[in-house]
Amino acid sequence: MKATEQLKAEHEGIKLILKVMERISNKLEMEKNFLPNDLKRIIEFMKLFVYKCHHSKEEKILFPALEKAGIKNVDGPIEIILNEHPISKLLLSNLEMSLNKFIDRESGSEELVIKEIRNFICLMNNHINKENEILFLMAKKALSNERQEELYFKLEEYEERTVDSCKIEEFHNLLNEMKGRYLNTNSREENFERK
Ligand SMILES: [Fe+2]
Ligand SMILES: [Fe+2]
Repeated sequence: MKATEQLKAEHEGIKLILKVMERISNKLEMEKNFLPNDLKRIIEFMKLFVYKCHHSKEEKILFPALEKAGIKNVDGPIEIILNEHPISKLLLSNLEMSLNKFIDRESGSEELVIKEIRNFICLMNNHINKENEILFLMAKKALSNERQEELYFKLEEYEERTVDSCKIEEFHNLLNEMKGRYLNTNSREENFERK
């Protein structure tokens, strides 16, 4: 397998969660007395899987390899994409803060959560599209198949060292659970209820 194919597959999982977040924000907009408990779990997913694992793999393995192969970092595509990693982290922390305000029933916090969810979704979707449609195509030209495979093994090794396998399984379960609850027509919504 190629390194960029692996990262693209991870993007699909992240995009799925972003869709779930969109449904949660719509739900909140329509029914303000609901508490999206699942949002807390999604934030944990983002912190561990996206930041500790996915973004780190790009920063430590793929981007340096691309730079080595001649793709510009400073004043180039890598720098633009790289700068979005801390921005998305900041937006996620804004979302977490607004969710805590919502849990404490601060007035106006529903609107804040909705706004922060949408800010985060917008940045992440744009970021993923830039990587898939621009950077990974450049990678395809700059890296040989052998080099891509070599980098794929490095990504796998990094993941094993960074996030334990139980957590990865937990994330797959979370993805399936969220998909069933929010993205199916017969969605179950009992977890929304404010406790
Ligand atoms: Fe990225
Ligand atoms: Fe990515």
